[in-house]
Amino acid sequence: MIPVVVDMDSGTDDALALMMLLNSQAVEVVGITTVGGNARLADTTRNALRLLEYMGRPDIPVARGAARTAQRAFHYAYDVHGARGLGIPLPSPTTRPVRSRAPAFISRMASRYRGKLNIIALGPLTNIARALRKEPRIVEWTKQLVVMGGAVDVAGNITPYAEFNTFNDPDAAHTVLASFFATSLVGLDVTTRVSFDRTDAPWFTGDAPAATLSKRIVRTWFDEHLTSPRYHLHDPLAVIAALDPNLFSWHRASIDVEMENAARLGMTTATYGSGPVRVAVAVRAEDATAAVTDMLSRPGDRASGA
Ligand code: BDR
Ligand code: CA
Repeated sequence: MIPVVVDMDSGTDDALALMMLLNSQAVEVVGITTVGGNARLADTTRNALRLLEYMGRPDIPVARGAARTAQRAFHYAYDVHGARGLGIPLPSPTTRPVRSRAPAFISRMASRYRGKLNIIALGPLTNIARALRKEPRIVEWTKQLVVMGGAVDVAGNITPYAEFNTFNDPDAAHTVLASFFATSLVGLDVTTRVSFDRTDAPWFTGDAPAATLSKRIVRTWFDEHLTSPRYHLHDPLAVIAALDPNLFSWHRASIDVEMENAARLGMTTATYGSGPVRVAVAVRAEDATAAVTDMLSRPGDRASGA
């Protein structure tokens, strides 16, 4: 089993990504770290706890991370993700986050699963950058860091230049993408090619817990965004990249993140050829979409749907 820490700003597509991982027989989610981004930290943490409980996995530890960046408050996306960042009601969690905060938790997991840990980062990179500053050896201990973020050779989604996650903490994105983590960058270049169409409802088959909740989340999102024909699978695609990288074409690069120019904050520019990051430049979109559907339509081995 691949040990995975998920760093997330849960978020509707973060929720789908988490349920894919929980449904996978190949993965052991050893912990979740939360960060503000799509919603306030209190909401993203609560959503992570609620999702774990719904999926019958309240045993998975959740560590709270950053409520803001070193420079500023996060820009939230309640308009995209809905009330409390998920848009659907779920019972209140009965569990609480663990005592350690995200950076310490990430270091501990990287040390415990030395050489094996996969980190899948689905929000602003604030927690990962702080973990790196605290314990630089996590770079060697982590097998792979998959980042959903950046818009390398395409336009941004929060500004014409920047993708939402890198925009939200450009300094952290710079720190992490310039580090020597084995990083796979899954940005808008590929994620905007992988989506569910409104007309393809119900998108998932069966009535297992992940499929049932995913249907509710995606259906509610379409109901709230009546003029949008497509729901982009940004964070789910990062999960696919971690588990099935052969569906992508990758180019090695060094990535520059704009940290100063106010209009271009979070813009990601690649110099291809060499560098610490492999950038997803193309994806077999139909296969990737089918893989998302499949992972969320499975019964899942431990899901109870309680
Ligand atoms: C990213 O921003 C968030 O809204 C999504 O959850 C995803 O991580 C896409 O730009
Ligand atoms: Ca996210």
